[in-house]
Amino acid sequence: MTRIALVVTDPEFYADDPDPDTPLILDSLLSADVLAEMVVWHDPEVDWSAYDLALLRSPWDYPLRPAEFDRWLQHVAPLTRVLNEPHMVRWNMDKHYLDDLASAGITVVPTSYHRSPGSAAEALTRAAQEGVTGGADGPAHVVVKPTVGSRSRLAGLFRADDPGAQQLAEAIIADGAAAMIQPEVPELSEGLEKAVYMVDGQFTHAIAKGALLARGGGMIGGIYGENAQVVEVTEEEKAFVRQVLKAVMKVNGTEMPLYARIDIVDTARYGKVLLEAELIEPLLNLHHAPGVEHVFAEAIRARA
Ligand SMILES: Nc1ncnc2c1ncn2[C@@H]1O[C@H](COP(=O)(O)OP(=O)(O)O)[C@@H](O)[C@H]1O
Ligand SMILES: [Mg+2]
Repeated sequence: MTRIALVVTDPEFYADDPDPDTPLILDSLLSADVLAEMVVWHDPEVDWSAYDLALLRSPWDYPLRPAEFDRWLQHVAPLTRVLNEPHMVRWNMDKHYLDDLASAGITVVPTSYHRSPGSAAEALTRAAQEGVTGGADGPAHVVVKPTVGSRSRLAGLFRADDPGAQQLAEAIIADGAAAMIQPEVPELSEGLEKAVYMVDGQFTHAIAKGALLARGGGMIGGIYGENAQVVEVTEEEKAFVRQVLKAVMKVNGTEMPLYARIDIVDTARYGKVLLEAELIEPLLNLHHAPGVEHVFAEAIRARA
């Protein structure tokens, strides 16, 4: 019988932030007679070679311990099949990957990367001097966020001359990542980001999650909260997403990712842009898309 590990983390980690997807996938796999179970990625007792496939589902604490996660990937890769592929996952852990995708022809939000406070300060001064970002009047705003991060951890939206922007950049650098600085994309602040889900390269569903960052730092409403709504995706948007997946495969020399969440936004300034290609542990929002859990479970089974 096929054995599949759905890779998660400690139950306590989900106390305030439950993973709604994995139980649905688990049930679907079990009903298809697959021996699937949730397994904690950093549990030293696990015999990974006992599984036909380890599916990275919600190891959501990896941005807090990236070096350990990286070592873990190297440890398990020879023991079982890991999906998405470890090589692609490691590349996807650091948002410098956006540069690779830009080189492969994908439009991304203009981004500068900073490993020192001085370099971040220069970029912020430049952004403040350049002024207007989104076409509207008023002072330039920027988003500062870490190269290794998810769920908006250490991400903030500030006026470029707000000392809080520099402080956040320094906090990110002290935390061990590089700080990314981007002009504010007004359409993101308006909540027009679309997360487009692809299983085996096929569109399954798409979600708008609303605006997340409060002006002046922190989250709207004080905590991270995606207000997920199912949205329609146009043919042009699907074509853009397929181009992103092609670029991902080309850059990595790998096959089609089993799953992907491609975050895009249509902008007045840049046209369609890629914000993020999440290939590691996306929240799938399956409870908003009844039936997709079976599509995903079947795709998992087919690869095991
Ligand atoms: N350049 C930007 N302009 C405006 N909002 C942004 C910008 N970059 C990110 N955001 C907001 O911050 C959120 C988190 O940023 P993102 O790059 O997606 O990182 P994460 O990996 O934390 O999801 C986005 O979903 C979006 O709402
Ligand atoms: Mg995101």
